[in-house]
Amino acid sequence: MNIFIRQERPEDYEKTEKLVREAFLKEERSDQTEHLLVRRIRQSEAFIPELSLVAFDSEKEMTGHILLSEITITGEDKTTASLALAPMSVLPAHQKKGIGSRLIHEALEKAKELGWHSVIVLGHKDYYPKFGFRQAQLWNIRAPFDVPEEVFMALELTEHALGNAQGTVHYSSAFSE
Ligand SMILES: CC(C)(COP(=O)(O)OP(=O)(O)OC[C@H]1O[C@@H](n2cnc3c(N)ncnc32)[C@H](O)[C@@H]1OP(=O)(O)O)[C@@H](O)C(=O)NCCC(=O)NCCS
Repeated sequence: MNIFIRQERPEDYEKTEKLVREAFLKEERSDQTEHLLVRRIRQSEAFIPELSLVAFDSEKEMTGHILLSEITITGEDKTTASLALAPMSVLPAHQKKGIGSRLIHEALEKAKELGWHSVIVLGHKDYYPKFGFRQAQLWNIRAPFDVPEEVFMALELTEHALGNAQGTVHYSSAFSE
């Protein structure tokens, strides 16, 4: 199956938000407001346009979206800049065809190219480890809220990037509005 991936453009915004909404409609743990989170992140300083990617099929239908935005990991004497992978969405009819995987691979590659060193994700415990994510607690990195350890994960884009990053993740204000 052909999957085309490119940076999201302002003229995609409406379509992307519709897609995000649809992707999360049947997700049990969702509050169905992820499309609004995407909108708020885009309007915030945490937004990195190059790390908002959209996927299309060969019919030019938009089938998926991924967003990585800036966060920090704050320890006692050190703050580490990092990225949050959130949210990511594939239209229900197109799930399990490899679109999500392609979006993650391309987003991680782009992030590395832009000079980022790590990524944090809160999500499906059996999905993200496929891409190298491991429990964030291995680096003593904690979520700013109560969450089961196995769903709060981190990935080093460069070797030992999180070696001294222990602390609490601080999401941008877009996540708390
Ligand atoms: C989660 C999601 C983005 C995955 O996208 P996708 O295009 O279906 O994923 P892929 O086809 O690339 O799947 C890759 C692999 O992960 C598996 N997988 C897919 N969704 C999974 C899930 N929710 N949990 C565990 N494994 C999953 C696939 O079976 C496949 O396994 P394989 O490599 O052994 O064949 C998509 O299902 C989705 O949008 N879900 C609703 C919104 C959501 O939950 N977003 C993520 C929030 S954390």
